[in-house]
Amino acid sequence: MILKSKRPLFHLTPKENWMNDPNGFSYFKGEYHLFYQYYPYNPYWGDMHWGHAKSKDLMSWEHLPIALRPDMEFDQDGCFSGSAVEDDGKLHIFYTAIRYSKSSISQSGNKIPADEKSLISTQAYAFTEDGIHFKKKKEPIIACPKEVGDEAYFRDPKVWKKDQYWYMVVGSKSLDKEQGNILVYKSSNLVDWQYLSSITKGDIGRMWECPDLFELEGKDIFLFSPIDGGEDEQKNIACYYTGSFNYEKGDFKFEDFDMLDYGFEYYAPQSMLDSKNRRILVGWLVMEEPLDANENWTGMMTLPRVLSLRNGRLQFDVVDEIKSYRRESLQKKDVVVNKQYELNFQHENTFEMNLEVEIKDNFELQLFSDEKKGLKLSYNSKNRQVVINREDVMNDSKAMVFGKERKSPQLLVNNNLKLRIFADKSVVEVFINDGQYVMSAIVNPREEQKKIIVKGNSPLKNIEIWRLEKI
Ligand code: FRU
Repeated sequence: MILKSKRPLFHLTPKENWMNDPNGFSYFKGEYHLFYQYYPYNPYWGDMHWGHAKSKDLMSWEHLPIALRPDMEFDQDGCFSGSAVEDDGKLHIFYTAIRYSKSSISQSGNKIPADEKSLISTQAYAFTEDGIHFKKKKEPIIACPKEVGDEAYFRDPKVWKKDQYWYMVVGSKSLDKEQGNILVYKSSNLVDWQYLSSITKGDIGRMWECPDLFELEGKDIFLFSPIDGGEDEQKNIACYYTGSFNYEKGDFKFEDFDMLDYGFEYYAPQSMLDSKNRRILVGWLVMEEPLDANENWTGMMTLPRVLSLRNGRLQFDVVDEIKSYRRESLQKKDVVVNKQYELNFQHENTFEMNLEVEIKDNFELQLFSDEKKGLKLSYNSKNRQVVINREDVMNDSKAMVFGKERKSPQLLVNNNLKLRIFADKSVVEVFINDGQYVMSAIVNPREEQKKIIVKGNSPLKNIEIWRLEKI
């Protein structure tokens, strides 16, 4: 039997070897560019490069040559995360240059910092005119302001423009406390940066990585990935505050807090504003190693999600471009479920499904199922939480380290559940009640785990499913 690859079709993965954080997500000369933290020599984290892909529709990605390599004295141990902005016909890149004061060798044989305190970080600059070749500035543009920051925890610059100025937020931690914060900078020319302020809330995580700040429908949204901000196995989470940012003083009035994704491995997301004025977010789905011995890649990106506000909170939807990859479909209305119902639909575990369920008391949906065992999505009218359990689709893979089960927050709507689901070979993204919450999960199904089964007694008001395919 020829083993089919578990590589997703629509979720960006590295051609081979290691991928983490999205970087430099931008729109340049009519195409989307997505860079990412990349180790090109084996599928484990090592000296960071910037991998590079571009796309016309955020779904079909073309891999391009490596954009940044750790080849300067000041970034000799890694080109860490950062962002990109277009201005004056150039794409300007901001990244964190890393040197180690001490290093050691990991189990995979890669050089890593001896401990997290041995990072020496500065913010550095590069640009491209053709979108393929990159030129680095010969020295860093920002050193850590030692009165307020710690150079071991000073990384991930995100740049944006407001009126005639450029602003940058950099992930950081308090000097004297185990508390995350961000440093804000201002510039009129993208090269000379002036320190403006430090922002913290002090309540979550001991460092804030990958900050992002943007305006959405009249509110300011601040995204960050706090180290040790989570619970259970999932230590690192990605979350946001709504609020308002004062561009004069550089302070942020915090309002509501929530998570960006309630699944297992979502981290370090980055947003961009595209030419259609959509705020689009891409996150990294963490894998620790390849899914199994047949795969030579580690890590993937989520599908690009469009952000909007509903009742003061973020709401998420996959970009519409995915719809042009819909192929055969099946639609059904008012299906009575008596204990078990199998959806008779041919697919290769890459599909989109919309489901509207009238909750009686129990509802369970199994995807990637062999009839008995699959990925379980369940809901009951007492707890009013969507529970996702992947225990039976891990199949001994060590790539998934963040546990077996996750729960959504309690839903307000009691008897009507809407799910929009994107399954893609080894990953699933579940959008709950019109994108109020998202849960994503990496899975490792066996060849025969392909069925879609509904259990319980809750009628299905509406089912729509499409096979998704690339030509
Ligand atoms: C987040 C992160 C960033 C850093 C990068 C290094 O996952 O730790 O803070 O720039 O990864 O690869």
